[in-house]
Amino acid sequence: MCGIVGYIGYRKAQEVLLQGLHRLEYRGYDSAGIAVVKEDGTLNIYKAKGKVSNLETIMADKEVEGSIGIGHTRWATHGEPNDKNAHPHSSQSQSLAMVHNGTIENYHILKKALIKHGYTFSTETDTEVLVQLIEYIKATNKCNLFDAVREALLQVVGAYAIAVIEKGNPDTIIVARKSSPLVIGIGENETFIASDASPIVGFTDKVVYLKENEMAVISRNRPLQISSIADNRPSKLDIQRLRVSVEQLEKGGYDTFMLKEIFEQPETLKDCIRGRIVEEGKRVILSGVIENRERFIHANRIVIVACGTSWHAALIGKRVIQEMCQLPVEVEYASEFRYGNPFITDQDIVIAISQSGETADTLAAIQLAKNKGAFVYGICNVVGASIPRNTDSGTYIHVGPEIGVASTKAFTGQVTVLTLLALCMGQIRQTVQPEKVEEIAQALLKMPDTIRETLKLNDDIRRLAKTFTYAHNFLYLGRGYNYPTALEGALKLKEISYIHAEGYPAAEMKHGPIALIDAEMPSVIIAPSDSLYDKIVGNVQQIKSRGGSVVAIVNRGNTAMAQLADYCLKIPEVPECLTPIVIAIPLQLLAYYIAIYKGRDVDRPRNLAKSVTVE
Ligand code: F6R
Repeated sequence: MCGIVGYIGYRKAQEVLLQGLHRLEYRGYDSAGIAVVKEDGTLNIYKAKGKVSNLETIMADKEVEGSIGIGHTRWATHGEPNDKNAHPHSSQSQSLAMVHNGTIENYHILKKALIKHGYTFSTETDTEVLVQLIEYIKATNKCNLFDAVREALLQVVGAYAIAVIEKGNPDTIIVARKSSPLVIGIGENETFIASDASPIVGFTDKVVYLKENEMAVISRNRPLQISSIADNRPSKLDIQRLRVSVEQLEKGGYDTFMLKEIFEQPETLKDCIRGRIVEEGKRVILSGVIENRERFIHANRIVIVACGTSWHAALIGKRVIQEMCQLPVEVEYASEFRYGNPFITDQDIVIAISQSGETADTLAAIQLAKNKGAFVYGICNVVGASIPRNTDSGTYIHVGPEIGVASTKAFTGQVTVLTLLALCMGQIRQTVQPEKVEEIAQALLKMPDTIRETLKLNDDIRRLAKTFTYAHNFLYLGRGYNYPTALEGALKLKEISYIHAEGYPAAEMKHGPIALIDAEMPSVIIAPSDSLYDKIVGNVQQIKSRGGSVVAIVNRGNTAMAQLADYCLKIPEVPECLTPIVIAIPLQLLAYYIAIYKGRDVDRPRNLAKSVTVE
C-alpha cells in the first residue's frame, strides 16, 4: 500500500529511485514520483499519474543531477489518482518534499489550523497537510528539519512511514514510522530507505528495520542515528542480514511475475518443507511449536486471523488442525476480529497468517489478542516484517518474494505450513496416529514432484481458458477441505480478470445459487476422489440438467466424470488434507489465462495493492 524509497550516497539518485520504485510497484501503481536535491541545493520534483513507466517516460529527456532523493509509488487513499495528488508533496514555500505511506487521521483538524495561519493547499491529500505542518513548525520554532518533523509527528494521529528532504540540504533525509514499515539499507558510503527490502537488494545486505514509533536521520557524513519519536531517546542499531537475491526479484524469462510464481511452486514448496520433516518422514518439527511445547499441549482453542487469500488458507488450516489435534479452531477475518470484541483468554493460541507480514488489520488483531493474554503465533512469508516481529513465536513459509499482486505460491506455502503445524502439534498432544503423520509427511516430501506433474496441465488450461473469455460470472464449488479452495479459485479469477466469481460449498448450491445457472454461467467443480466425491457428482448433474457448463477437477484415475462434465482437468492423487495444495495449481492457471486473454495486467490488477497497510 504505497511504496517509499530513498537514497543518499554517491550514485545518481534518479536511477536508484526509479529502479526501487519498479520493485515496489506491487504495493500501488496509481501514480509515482521522485524528488531530488542537487549539490547546489536545488530541489526538483517529478510526478506522473499511473505506473512507474509513465514517470520514466516524462523523465526520459531529463538529466536529474543529485545523489540524494526520495520516491513514491501510490495506492490512493485521500484524493483521486492524478498528477497533482501524486507524491512527493511539497510545502507551501517549496522548501520541503515528503513521501508518505499510511493515513493521517486528524488531517482535517491540522489543515484547518494551518489555513488559519495562512497556508493554502493544492491537493486533497493528508500528506500535504503533514509536510505543510513540518514547514510551519520549522519556521515558527526556528529549528532544524529533524526537530520540526518530530514535533509535527507528535501532533499527528494515524499511521505513517515518511521520508522528508529539504532544499539547500543535499546531506540529510529524515525518516519515521508508525504502523507502516520502513527498512534502512546500510552500504559503503551510501544509505537506502524503502518500504520493504526489495529496492535495497543488490546494493547491500545490511539492513535495519525501523521499529514502531522510531525516526532516523540519514546523513551523508554521519553514521545512522535512530531515536524514539516520543522522547528522542537514541535506539540501539540492530543490523540484520538480507537473504534475498536479485534473481529472486526478476521475472526469470516468464512473461509475468504471476506465471513465474505459479511455476516456482515445486521449488518454493521444497524450501517450505526443508528441515521440517525428519526421521525419514516419521516426525514433523516446527521449532516455533517445539520451543513452546507446553503452550501447545495445554491450549484450549485456536483462533486463526487473516485476510484475503491468507484467510482461505486459514479455513483449510482449521480443518487440518481439528482433524490432527482434536481441538476447536475458529477462523476470523482479522478486520472483523479487531472490532468484534472477541472472547479470548490466556489459554488460547491465536495464529495470524500473512504473506506480507504488514497487513494493518492482521497487525491490529495480533495486538488485541496479545492484550487479552493469548499466545500469538505468526505464519508469514516476508522475513523481518512487522507480523513476525510482533508475535510470540511463528514459522516462515519461505516461498521467496511474491511480487505478482495475486497471491499464488504464498497460498500453497501457507497451507503446507498449517499442515506441518497440525502434524507437529498433533504429535506433541498425542492426538494423531504415527501412521497418519507418516502418510501425510511422505506425501508432503513428494509434493514438489506432484506439483511439477500438475503443472503439465498448463497447455490444456491455456486452451480451455480461451473458451471462457465470454463469461461475466463464474461459480466455484467444493466441499470439505476444498470449499476454501473454491473460495480461493473464485478470488483469483475476480481479482485478475475482473469477472465476477463466487465460491460456494457445493451442497449449499441448491439453497440459492442454483437459480443463477444457465448456459452463460460456467461452474468449476472441485471433485477429487475423497470422502465427499459421490455427493459432488450430484451437484454436477444438477448443473448440467440446467444447461450450465462444467469444468471438473478430478483425480487422474477418474473416468466417470468425463461422461458428465464438459471439461475434466486431472490431477495426481494425494491424501485428502493435501488436495487444496494440488488443486490450487489448475485454479491459478485458469484464472491467469482467462485474464491474459482478456488483456488484463495480471501482475498489477486495477485498484489492488499487495501489501494492505491501511484499514
Ligand atoms: C489475493 C491477495 C490478498 C491477500 C490479502 C492479505 O490474491 O493477495 O487477498 O491475501 O491482502 O495479505 P497478507 O497475506 O499479506 O496479509
